[in-house]
Amino acid sequence: MTGNYTFTMIKPETVIDGHAGAILEMIQAAGFRIVAMKMTKLGKREAEMFYEVHKERPFYGELVEFMSSAPIVAAILEKENAVESFRNLIGATDPAKAAEGTIRKRFAKSISSNAVHGSDSDENAAIEASFFFARTERYTANGEACW
Ligand code: RTP
Ligand code: MG
Repeated sequence: MTGNYTFTMIKPETVIDGHAGAILEMIQAAGFRIVAMKMTKLGKREAEMFYEVHKERPFYGELVEFMSSAPIVAAILEKENAVESFRNLIGATDPAKAAEGTIRKRFAKSISSNAVHGSDSDENAAIEASFFFARTERYTANGEACW
């Protein structure tokens, strides 16, 4: 059974360029509900921890530097089959390969500055959501504590 929650970040350069509002509009228009959200900035150590799974990859250093370079917008999103549905909405990692109508096609500048992060599994969605949000920061559609 697939889960109904995923985690996203709007990445630094995209926030600096003022595209957070337009991206949140696309996310909500696609039927996702915002369960939790904040603008914050990752320290270098925090970015290293968040991307620990990519530690051995050649782009790890660049990824950590970029993700800690300016504020990000972090959010937990709810929709049926959320992880897969959101990855379809954001498009391919490399914006040159992202399909028309996707967030990355519209807002990504490069493979590093590719506008948004989306969790790749239900398990990682739960881990990533808990990296940023306490239980008391997550709300149901009628404003009660959630997930
Ligand atoms: P994300 O985690 O940000 O949603 O992206 P993703 O699943 O599509 O890609 P992933 O393989 O998890 O890589 C994480 C982020 O690292 C950067 N990257 N750079 N230079 C490169 O070859 C390269 N490959 C990946 C991207 O910014 C990617 O979003
Ligand atoms: Mg990923």
